[in-house]
Amino acid sequence: MDANVAGNVFGGTILRLIDEAASIVARRHARSNVVTASIDSMDFHSPVYIGDFLRLIASVNYVHRTSMEIGVRVEAENPITGERRHTGTCYLTYVALDKDGKPKPVPGLTPETTDEKRRWEEGRIRRNFRLQNMEEHKK
Ligand SMILES: CC(C)(COP(=O)(O)OP(=O)(O)OC[C@H]1O[C@@H](n2cnc3c(N)ncnc32)[C@H](O)[C@@H]1OP(=O)(O)O)[C@@H](O)C(=O)NCCC(=O)NCCS
Repeated sequence: MDANVAGNVFGGTILRLIDEAASIVARRHARSNVVTASIDSMDFHSPVYIGDFLRLIASVNYVHRTSMEIGVRVEAENPITGERRHTGTCYLTYVALDKDGKPKPVPGLTPETTDEKRRWEEGRIRRNFRLQNMEEHKK
């Protein structure tokens, strides 16, 4: 079941699509197997209804040694009116794995445009925040 009786698509269904889109982008960047290491919290700003067209725009925002942050913007489009709504944005971290299933280094990324540079910087800040959070949860 992907939606409730009122026709609202479940958040979990959308998250699955986000994970799929982001993993394709991560795998394409790493050219290796990848696993999802973390999914940041996500707010749904606007509902998605059965029949809406969904548009997922995924990009590599930031890369570290073996990990990559992928950002996914989700838009829902009413198929009749064409009205488009920004449903939410999610940030996911993937780790590239070698043939033995161990983390392996990923190719670098050089942000060029203003948007790419902004995404890179924001991704770097989120990564530091995530690492801090992980440390605090270990205590
Ligand atoms: C993700 C995973 C490979 C990390 O393994 P690990 O032994 O912790 O590896 P390391 O400590 O060497 O860390 C490897 C990288 O993962 C990152 N990482 C580890 N845990 C993370 C987390 N919870 N969130 C974000 N990044 C994380 C580290 O920062 C590091 O990044 P860097 O090399 O770019 O600096 C391991 O925890 C794992 O296999 N988890 C299960 C993944 C899974 O099953 N996902 C769901 C289905 S795909």
